[in-house]
This record gives sequence, C-alpha cells and structure tokens, in this order.
Amino acid sequence: MTSFTFATAGRIVFGVGTVSQLPALVAEFGGRPFVCTGSNPRRHGAVLDALPDAAVFPVPHEPTMETVREAAAAARVHGAQVVVGLGGGAALDAAKVVAALVTNGGDPLDYAEVVGDGRPLLERSLPVVAVPTTSGTGSEVTANGVVTSSEHRVKVSLRSASMLPAVALVDPELTLAVPAAVTAHAGLDALVQCIEPFVSPFATPIVDGFCREGIRRAARSLRRVYADGSDLAARTDMSLCSLLSGLALANGKLGAAHGLAGPLGGLLGAPHGAITAAVMVPVSRANLTELAGQEDAGPALGRYAEVGELLTGVRDAEALLAWFAETAALLGVRGLSTLGMTEADVPGIALAASRASSTRGNPVRLPVARFEEIVRAAL
Ligand SMILES: NC(=O)c1ccc[n+]([C@@H]2O[C@H](COP(=O)([O-])OP(=O)(O)OC[C@H]3O[C@@H](n4cnc5c(N)ncnc54)[C@H](O)[C@@H]3O)[C@@H](O)[C@H]2O)c1
Repeated sequence: MTSFTFATAGRIVFGVGTVSQLPALVAEFGGRPFVCTGSNPRRHGAVLDALPDAAVFPVPHEPTMETVREAAAAARVHGAQVVVGLGGGAALDAAKVVAALVTNGGDPLDYAEVVGDGRPLLERSLPVVAVPTTSGTGSEVTANGVVTSSEHRVKVSLRSASMLPAVALVDPELTLAVPAAVTAHAGLDALVQCIEPFVSPFATPIVDGFCREGIRRAARSLRRVYADGSDLAARTDMSLCSLLSGLALANGKLGAAHGLAGPLGGLLGAPHGAITAAVMVPVSRANLTELAGQEDAGPALGRYAEVGELLTGVRDAEALLAWFAETAALLGVRGLSTLGMTEADVPGIALAASRASSTRGNPVRLPVARFEEIVRAAL
C-alpha cells in the first residue's frame, strides 16, 4: 500500500538570475530582514546592498549552539520580521534555527534531538527565505537545522515542520565562485542524499522521482562542475540535484552514511560532504552484504542496481560502487584518518552511528560490529 505525506517550502523559485527577486520577497514578509550568511559577507555584497534595512550575521563555520544563541539574540534586538539564509548549508541552517528560536524562545538545547530535551517547537518560526550559494545540502527545503554541540562533540538537529522555509530561492549563478573543494564535498553529499532515500524502505513514489532525477543530474554534471566551476549548465544541474536531494530527505529518510556523519562531524569538525563521501562506498558495501544474506531483502538490492544504471548505464550495484569510488577519488576525497580520525575513535563512533536517527532509514539493520568495519574501511 502506498501512503505518504509530502511537505516542502511554501514556494520554490529556481533559475539563473532569480536572486534579483530577493528584495521583493523580503518586503512581502514585512521587511527588517536578519541575514545569516557565511564568514565573508562581502562575497554576496551586491545581494546584501539590495537589502538596506538588513542586519547581517556572519556564521563563521558550521553553526554551534553558541552561534545560534548569539544570532537569535541579535535577531530579536533587530526586530526581525523575516530571516534570510544566504550561503552554504551552515548559513541556511543557522537562519532556520534562529527563526525558530526567535518565536519559541528558550535555548537551542531545549529543542535539540539526541543531546537536548527534544521539546517540540510549538510556535511558527519567523518566515525564512533560504538562498543557497553551494549545491549540496538541500537545506532550503528541509525541516531541520543541524547544529554542533561542542560540549557533546556531536552534530544534532532541531526539527519541525514549522522550520520549512517560506521561500527557497535557488539561483545557480550564486554558486559560480564556490571553490573546487567545496564544490566536490557539497556535490557528493547532494548525490548521497539522493541515493540514501532511494534505497531506504521509507522511499515513496514522490521521493523516488526526485532521487532519480537528482542522480541523473549528478551523473552528467558532478565531474564537469569540479573540472570547470564556471560551467553554468553544470552548476544548474548541481543546484537542481541539491534541491531534489533536500526534497527527498525531507520527505523520506537517509541511511547509515548520514548516521555516521553526525558523530563523525562532531568529532572531526571536517566538512559534512567530505565525511559522507568517505563512508558512502563502505556503507553501501555493508548494506549489500547484509541484504544478500536476508531471505526477504525487499526492493533495496534492485534499487542499488538501478542507481548503478542511472550513474553508468549498467544495471548493477557494483557499477554504482565503482563510479562513486572513482568520482570521490577524482574529486579529492581522502580517508577519515586524513581528517584526524584514529583507530581509538572507532568503537565510540560505531556505537553512536548505530543509534543515530538517520540510521533508522537504512535499508537494513547493521550491527555495531558492521559499523566498526565500515569506519575502519573508510579510515
Ligand atoms: N538542514 C539540512 O537538511 C542539511 C542537510 C545537509 C547538510 N546540512 C548541513 O549543511 C552544512 C554544510 O553545508 P555546505 O556543504 O554548503 O558547507 P558550508 O555552508 O560550511 O560552506 C562551505 C564553505 O563554502 C563557503 N561558501 C559558501 N558559498 C560560497 C560561494 N558562493 N562562493 C565561495 N565560497 C562559498 C562558505 O563560506 C564555507 O567556507 C553542514 O553544517 C551540514 O550539517 C544540513
């Protein structure tokens, strides 16, 4: 039986040049925007100059509990009517969390999953206009914001349907200046975010459509965009892949690669996409091995083979593994040890990943010992 709920941003505006619509959109929500952007706001000088009554808050890195506390206080002082996230996933997530904290009050740890109290966000957030400048997270259409708890050394989410942005404004032109390493990590993560929901038992026909199209776009443009960041057609494909991946993960579930990314991100402080890309092949290998040993493995094995076909034309899960490994190597992805992980970290990470909320979307239950094998293979 097919049954699902589908929820997304109030509006999606996509296309080259669409960022020119930002001032009018902000005005629709009452003006006085509070803008969360990256560490270098001048990078988006022309966009910010068009918002003269904005308060600008640079998010120096992937947001921490301290960052969002400080930003929410500043947004209240500014009297913000609308929050704009203008930047990578870090800026977008900060914007979504700030918008929720301004109306709900309290501390981010009151609402955070896993390490916090996980209280529901009962009040509607301030409206958010999410303007991604990387192609990777799809955060412009997801209902969560990822925040690092430095105290617990883990990345966790605040999550609520009310955190879905009012508008996702996706202009591929904004991604033209993204450096090659960020293009690689973000693009690989977008692809993983299309693959995991597609092989998950929580896939739905609507999620399937997003995933297939996102995987096709990444297959033809991920390597191209890394080789030539000024290729606007390839950038457009990857912006769309990222948007589709956000639609998929917000309406489906991820899997063990993202289950590992939470604790690994908290431990290593490395870019999210560098981590998901490093673990993707060992996770898929472990899933295929476990699935092959099951009497009723469901559709997941066929799904892996279909991803292989979408990426390479060959309907075989091995084709997926080979393509992904080759692409990750071409795009400069290195093992987790180069990001600072040691053998001593393996048991703790494996245990945390086995309990992570994303892991629940995995196509098969993986014992902790399998997670240890995965992490060792990704070292
Ligand atoms: N909420 C969600 O659904 C979701 C999903 C996936 C990932 N995330 C989160 O998103 C974050 C990762 O996002 P990301 O991969 O976009 O990285 P990021 O936001 O950390 O940005 C990476 C770097 O690129 C720079 N940058 C951004 N746009 C640029 C541009 N146009 N030109 C030049 N430099 C630019 C940033 O300043 C930063 O230094 C993580 O915190 C991750 O946990 C959230």
